[in-house]
Amino acid sequence: MTTETPTYFPPEELVRNAHVSGMDAYHVLVAEAEADYEGFWARHARELVSWRTPFSQVLDASTPPFFKWFADGTLNASYNCLDRHVENGLGDKVAIIFEADDGAVAQVTYREMLERTCRLANALKARGLVKGDRVIVYMPMSVEGVVAMLACARIGATHSVVFGGFSAQSLRDRIADTGAALVITADEQMRGGKALPLKAIVDEALAMQGCETVRDVLVYRRSGGDVTFVAPRDKWLHDVMDAEPTTCDPEWVGAEHPLFLLYTSGSTGKPKGVQHSTGGYLLHAALTTKWTFDLKPDDVFWCTADIGWVTGHTYIAYGPLALGGTEVVFEGVPTYPDASRFWRVIERHKVTIFYTAPTAIRSLIKAAEGNEAVHPKNVDLSSLRILGSVGEPINPAAWEWYHKHVGGGRCPIVDTWWQTETGGHMITPLPGATPLVPGSCTLPFPGVMAAVVDEAGHDVPNGQGGILVIKKPWPSMIRTIYGDPERYQKSYFPDEFQGRYYLAGDGASRDEKTGYFTITGRIDDVLNVSGHRMGTMEIESALVSHTELVAEAAVVGRPDDTTGEAICAFVVLKRPRPTGEEAKKIAKELRDWVGKQIGPIAKPKDIRFGDNLPKTRSGKIMRRLLRSVATGAAITQDTSTLENPAILEQLAENN
Ligand code: PRX
Repeated sequence: MTTETPTYFPPEELVRNAHVSGMDAYHVLVAEAEADYEGFWARHARELVSWRTPFSQVLDASTPPFFKWFADGTLNASYNCLDRHVENGLGDKVAIIFEADDGAVAQVTYREMLERTCRLANALKARGLVKGDRVIVYMPMSVEGVVAMLACARIGATHSVVFGGFSAQSLRDRIADTGAALVITADEQMRGGKALPLKAIVDEALAMQGCETVRDVLVYRRSGGDVTFVAPRDKWLHDVMDAEPTTCDPEWVGAEHPLFLLYTSGSTGKPKGVQHSTGGYLLHAALTTKWTFDLKPDDVFWCTADIGWVTGHTYIAYGPLALGGTEVVFEGVPTYPDASRFWRVIERHKVTIFYTAPTAIRSLIKAAEGNEAVHPKNVDLSSLRILGSVGEPINPAAWEWYHKHVGGGRCPIVDTWWQTETGGHMITPLPGATPLVPGSCTLPFPGVMAAVVDEAGHDVPNGQGGILVIKKPWPSMIRTIYGDPERYQKSYFPDEFQGRYYLAGDGASRDEKTGYFTITGRIDDVLNVSGHRMGTMEIESALVSHTELVAEAAVVGRPDDTTGEAICAFVVLKRPRPTGEEAKKIAKELRDWVGKQIGPIAKPKDIRFGDNLPKTRSGKIMRRLLRSVATGAAITQDTSTLENPAILEQLAENN
């Protein structure tokens, strides 16, 4: 494949002052990493991370795929994100500019962040928490949410943040899998002018079997809405923090100590607890924030992700703070009070670096096309110098609009490819170096050995599609799946590649001339809906758990203009196939059911009912046929092995 699309070059001034200045500088770094891989990472680990005890070994590859980085070094992530900046005279620098859903703004300095983190860390210790314990953070976007993460890091507890949109059932599953001792939550979260429950959902989860390990629940008062407290388990966060001193010695942990677990969807019904390290993770968080976003002391950085996703971990909680940057933390939604909210936030806080998801851009394009008043042209966006995109492929039309209308034609867009498992950016442009092609995430970050291979693990020539792999371990890679090392090995280091390469689960191709990467989407049963990862099996399990109604279900994705992919479910009921109003009613019931089982993000957009599903004579559901049915495409595949070909017509009907 050759890309015919125009190439955009970084503005000269940006190149001149960038941390990585020009393509020659990029190539020097790439060559350095190739010539001395460990030396490259060790140099940056010494420059960017403050170690309590320096490491003597860089990479320990003695038991692949269980790699260790900087293993005998000790450090503390919260010390790196807070104390060292205060010690360096940056105590009064604003760390976080918080903008609430209703527009209220609060600024928090590094000194205040440190004090709050220490108070909470002390409160955790007072409740008996020790290094290695797990803490669930089920919080709205807030300064307290970030403080909660850093306080865990301070005492060596491993946090597992659960996105506030997940249901009680999903929360229970994560609590049970982690065996958490404590939950930090809020009374409610404010989104688009509405108060949505959090504490009530925690109560519901904790009442389920499997949560017996939780001894304490700390509740941040956000909305002031009514909540029930169970004594002595539940306490207000402010009460326990007020009772504690503002200093707390950091717990020095080994570089491999698990900083956090973050659950993500795979190709089975059960989400996996991706375990990240402290040292290697922090290094990559800091280095990618520095190079990919070219973060400088005067920048105002804004990543719109939620702290419940990996993007919020690396590019809100850890990366920008590790570098002593100033960042916006935004509680609200892009469409409230209207669809110009993002642009207004940028204008108000003079944001210089803006990082968001293609799905948000596409929905804001739609809104601006329908209503001139919310078009970014009405807002002063001249503070911006760099734009970023993450979470899903960005289609060239959305890229061009983002570049022209948000970036004023002068801001490079860094289209960053990475995953929960990779910890930080893996393939991405560097803004003061890489010429850009809309729709391509361009080239690997220096030190990342990305490649496109065939099913036997051989490199495919540029221009041909294949499987995206990473050929060498990197510092911020997933360490294991919590409690299931075998699944870690099987999922990411499969036998097909002799266990040598990390299998990303995405397809990709490289441009014939430039070698630029284009991500072609997942090659497994994982969907990407609005940049959120969902397993088809997870949604199927949720549907069939409605045992009264559902006999069988199959879920596939289909392309969607706004959300990237949409969830399409084919359902066989335990009663005759419904039509008309009855079908609509049952579809709604099932949608709500999935919302309750997983969370609203997992609700299928389409639900179609059939007397049966298309199966081979051996009983296997033919999903590729369902994918064609879902998109309304003509069935070109061979249907001769199908037991019941007539079913396809029935499923194609929209009921
Ligand atoms: O399919 C890729 C897609 O998102 C997946 C990772 O999802 P998650 O672990 O939730 O992390 C999202 C935030 C890093 C990948 O396997 N993806 C992510 N970024 C891009 C992307 N696809 C294309 N282009 C990207 N820039």
